[in-house]
Amino acid sequence: MKEIGIGLLGLGTVGSGVVKAIAGNQLSISGKLGAELQIKKILVQDLYKKRLVQVPQSLMTKDYQDIVNDPTIDIVVDAMGGIEPAKDFILAAMEKGKHVVTANKEVVAKYGREILDKAEVHGVTFLFEGSVGGGIPIIRPLKQCLVANEITEISGIINGTTNYILTKMATEGKEFAAILKEAQDKGYAEPDPTNDIEGFDAAYKLAILASLAFGTPVKFEDVSFEGISNITREDMAWAVELGCTIKLLAQTKEHADGLEIRVGPCLIPLSHPLAGVNDVFNAFFIKGNLVGELFFSGRGAGDLPTGSAVVADIVEAARLTVTGSGAKPVCNCYRQKRVKPKDELLSAYYLRAKVTRSEVMLPVNNLLLQEQVPFAQTVKRVQQGKGGNMVYLTEELEERQIHGIVSKLSAIPGVKEVSLMRLEGNQAGVGQVARV
Ligand code: NAP
Ligand code: HSE
Repeated sequence: MKEIGIGLLGLGTVGSGVVKAIAGNQLSISGKLGAELQIKKILVQDLYKKRLVQVPQSLMTKDYQDIVNDPTIDIVVDAMGGIEPAKDFILAAMEKGKHVVTANKEVVAKYGREILDKAEVHGVTFLFEGSVGGGIPIIRPLKQCLVANEITEISGIINGTTNYILTKMATEGKEFAAILKEAQDKGYAEPDPTNDIEGFDAAYKLAILASLAFGTPVKFEDVSFEGISNITREDMAWAVELGCTIKLLAQTKEHADGLEIRVGPCLIPLSHPLAGVNDVFNAFFIKGNLVGELFFSGRGAGDLPTGSAVVADIVEAARLTVTGSGAKPVCNCYRQKRVKPKDELLSAYYLRAKVTRSEVMLPVNNLLLQEQVPFAQTVKRVQQGKGGNMVYLTEELEERQIHGIVSKLSAIPGVKEVSLMRLEGNQAGVGQVARV
């Protein structure tokens, strides 16, 4: 049987998942491919570190030249992370006529176009199914299965680490740092978990999805994003009281005046279909003008789910080698749509002002009336002569207006804390809290 040589960059969570998937399912994969996948070399930083998977020491190298110059390596798999040296290694592999597969969403979101152009010049392919949604097939469906549709909307949960943290905060009331450590131990978090917590990872993924969905080059800088580090236990408790939960949502939608592309924590009613997507699971809704609404769900991070996606790409690239057919990596960006700036985006909001004494309620109320904030519900839980919380659920208003209001609220003497979060989904599902 023909052998397809693989050079693996990185043997952390994803690299180990790839090794396990190929070793564990070798027979069925070879049967389907008509060739055998052989890992020839593995690039790491530390040759002697204890690994999650056993591999012959002879495969390990610290020198990328051992991979890029090896003529028996047909496919280079990037499971390293970061921009440099990953991007240089990807481009160098292509120059040597090797196909490239990556799980690195940062490099795809920031340099996808340049890399695809290089792939085209060298007649190789560039595949990145593992970069979004862990084990959920999402890139290939968007590029191939849904190609006949005009996609109008994608929304969902696309970061496993933050979903794990929010789930545990809501259900077990554990400390943030302890839950993050669990997510890291399980291999869900990025090498630098700030990328998960502050929303970068979800923003990279959404830039990739939006580019594919709308056929327009969406840059990482086009994504309005924020993470979950400002969510307090108090907000979590209020969410529960309101019959809601908090999720980090990624949303992209086509409007008449441009694309909305954003990531941020949102309160969603428990009746919302994404409210039950917990732990490391990711889920997306996709709307196409022919197919209607689709729902995808599965494990969004971890070694084997990501290994499943990466090895699918390896097999696709290997088929090109087996059949000897030329690769045609297509950048499907054929138009340039306007992206709406953050200030213009419309949302309903949950707004909580913590006041130190009851007399502060009056200036807070006056400000919100003056600003003509459209309220759906207000809850004031402030004891006479003492402090407490004033919670407002608003109708839709522009980001620029609400952020202006938050600044003014924060400047009122006696307002100790202001918390703002989007309110998404069926607002009729948000529970009424009795006034106290
Ligand atoms: P990881 O566990 O930290 O593994 C990274 C691996 O890359 C390590 O083996 C490391 O070597 C090696 N490496 C890093 N920089 C290197 C360099 N300059 N030269 C040589 N080797 C280098 O990271 P990971 O979680 O597997 O993530 C890898 C990539 O996959 C990232 O782009 C991430 O966004 C993406 N991804 C991750 C997941 C997930 O569930 N974790 C899912 C989908 C996509 P040493 O071990 O010797 O330090
Ligand atoms: N750190 C990422 C996550 C890995 O938690 O979703 C999967 O891309």
